[in-house]
Amino acid sequence: MDKCIVPGTFDPITNGHLDVIKRVSKIFDEVIVAVAESEKKGVLFDLDQRKKLAIESCKKISNVKVKSFDCLLVDFAKKNQCNVLVKGLRGYVDFEYEFQMAALNYQLDNTLETFFVMSPPKYMYLSSSHVRELARLGGDITKLVPACVNEAFYLKNQ
Ligand code: PNS
Repeated sequence: MDKCIVPGTFDPITNGHLDVIKRVSKIFDEVIVAVAESEKKGVLFDLDQRKKLAIESCKKISNVKVKSFDCLLVDFAKKNQCNVLVKGLRGYVDFEYEFQMAALNYQLDNTLETFFVMSPPKYMYLSSSHVRELARLGGDITKLVPACVNEAFYLKNQ
C-alpha cells in the first residue's frame, strides 16, 4: 500500500508506539509519524522535543518520516495526500475514544479511513502518561521507551 499516517501526541514516544510504527512500515511504502501540538493535554515535552525524540527513535526505519502539525488531522492528511490513519489499540479502554475520533474524522472527511493495530500483550499496559509518572517517581523505564527518551528524562531531572 501507498502511505499512512500514525498520529499522536507522543509525549513521549514509547516502545508501544514504536511497535505499531515498525509493523505498519512493513505494510505501507511510506509512514508519516505525525506529532501533534497539544494544548489540552498539558504536555511534558514541547513539540520540538517530541518531534526530535520521534525522529531519533525511528531513524533505523527507512520508510518513516516524522512531521509535526498544529491543525486538524484531516487537514494534515489532505496536505500530505494521504487517506489512511493508523492508531494502536491497547484494549477496550482505548476503544471508545478511538472509535469517536475515527467517526469524527470520517465525518469531516469521508475519504479518510482509520485502521487499527492491536498492541501485543507486552505493551497492553504501556502509555506515555504511565511512563511520565514512573520517570517522575524514579521508576525504571528503560524497557518501556527508546534509549533517547530515557536519556531525555534523565536530562530533564538534572
Ligand atoms: O494518541 P493520542 O495522543 O491520543 O493522539 C491524539 C491525536 C493527536 C491523534 C488527536 O488529538 C488529533 O488528531 N489532534 C489533532 C486535532 C484534531 O484533528 N482533532 C480532532 C477533532 S477534535
